[in-house]
Amino acid sequence: MLAILKSCTISGYQGVLTQVEVDVTRGFPHFDIVGLADTAVKESRERVRAALGNNGFKLPADRITVNLAPAAIQKHGPVLDVPIALGILAASGQIPASPRLLDTVVVGELSLEGKIRPVRGVLSMAITARKNGLSVMVVPRENAAEAAAIKQLTVIPASTLRELVAWCLGREIEPAQARQEHSPDYSACVDLAEVKGQQAAKRALEVAAAGGHNILMIGPPGSGKTMLANCIPGLMPPLTDAQALEVSQLYSVAGLLRHGRLITAPPFRNPHHSASLAGIVGGGSVPRPGEISLAHHGVLFLDEFPEFRREVIEVLRQPMEEGWITIARARASYRFPARFLLAAAANPCPCGYYGVDGGICTCTPGQVAKYRSKLSGPILDRIDIWADVPAVSFEKLRQRQQAETSAVVRQRVLAARERQRRRLGNKLNADMDNRQVAQHCTLDSASEELLARAFTRLRLSARAYQRVLKVARTIADLAGREKIASEDVAEALSYRSMEGDDFY
Ligand SMILES: Nc1ncnc2c1ncn2[C@@H]1O[C@H](COP(=O)(O)OP(=O)(O)OP(=O)(O)O)[C@@H](O)[C@H]1O
Ligand SMILES: [Mg+2]
Ligand SMILES: [Zn+2]
Repeated sequence: MLAILKSCTISGYQGVLTQVEVDVTRGFPHFDIVGLADTAVKESRERVRAALGNNGFKLPADRITVNLAPAAIQKHGPVLDVPIALGILAASGQIPASPRLLDTVVVGELSLEGKIRPVRGVLSMAITARKNGLSVMVVPRENAAEAAAIKQLTVIPASTLRELVAWCLGREIEPAQARQEHSPDYSACVDLAEVKGQQAAKRALEVAAAGGHNILMIGPPGSGKTMLANCIPGLMPPLTDAQALEVSQLYSVAGLLRHGRLITAPPFRNPHHSASLAGIVGGGSVPRPGEISLAHHGVLFLDEFPEFRREVIEVLRQPMEEGWITIARARASYRFPARFLLAAAANPCPCGYYGVDGGICTCTPGQVAKYRSKLSGPILDRIDIWADVPAVSFEKLRQRQQAETSAVVRQRVLAARERQRRRLGNKLNADMDNRQVAQHCTLDSASEELLARAFTRLRLSARAYQRVLKVARTIADLAGREKIASEDVAEALSYRSMEGDDFY
């Protein structure tokens, strides 16, 4: 007999509707799975065999063929265990054909004793099920909350194979309820109010968050660079519904969606400089999103920037330009979104005290030059804001007076982004192309002159010119000005003053 079930697998970070066809016919006992199954799907055979046996069912001593369609798409992982087991039960007549399975997507991994274990990527699968007009989905109980985030999908949470078989035969399982909408969770961020002093650096963060500008912070040890970077996502507005869904899919596929809670605040990722290339850009035999994708619509923080290997820095180029990364495999290539704000931090030299007031640098000129050369190159070219983070004085640290909170700054950022949205649609100022810069960043003659003088003085490149204009545009947007004023240009220029050779 033939049984056909609907299931779903993951390709990249998206779901692919998959049909599980199980045929049981008389013949020499044999159990085969065909249709481009990877080893994990083949191992499924052993789990299904044990789970059936341990629950009072049996693997029929006949010819069992499982076909996974579409055959052209690689199926990864154990997510097909449950539909394969149900298919065998139906095709061998151990349970009657259930009308409940007709338009239902079934996913889940089986333990040997028949428990249904959680799988990665259920959110993406739920989206795919809904897109294909299917309205019921059976998922592992631990994954129920994320599937239930998709409206108009009835989610049946299943804990064991036995429970699920009973459901197929008519017993009820309470469908999972969508979680109450909760406000975006900013609790992981450091609040700006906790950082004493550093007014200029805080302002630079605000501008960066408002326009989506990449930022590099330079300062001596212990001045608060790491702390400040941890504030940035808290200055950014909550994700839109579409962004939240996209980011949450990436986390779901990476197995990082906690309690099925969608990600609604901009994410913050800070990979260590010793992290592997695959860990940063994504990879593995079954490609999983890397840090740059987990930072999608949020912040990627590279602390101790000069310590990162050149090859890691190099691969950031494509995603920083295009907003996504491609991971090629023998049979297919996968595309993961990766549009992030890059924040980086560095000391001014190896010992950390070069050019610091009251500090004594113990580095040789050669060491400083070598270090300095790491602070240039293709990625640094894409940094719009160079922020000086000087050591904080004792008096400032002891200050009691309440500083501005992240929530207050976030309101200003939100207003500035709204101005950008009206002008550029989905883009932020940092993403303007040259044509848009020419159109939206016109200067009056005073500003033009200021810019010209600064360029000669700071010896800035032509590329820097575009960047200064974009940052000036953001500063004007924060001030609610439709026309860029010379004070906006002056402030934008101040974020490049460290870049010229004068700094060293
Ligand atoms: N401006 C500040 N206000 C309040 N606390 C601060 C400030 N700067 C530093 N600190 C305190 O010092 C600690 C170290 O700061 P942080 O790690 O951010 O410095 P850093 O600039 O990243 O140093 P390093 O260059 O050594 O990495 C913080 O955890 C915080 O407790
Ligand atoms: Mg630090
Ligand atoms: Zn030094």
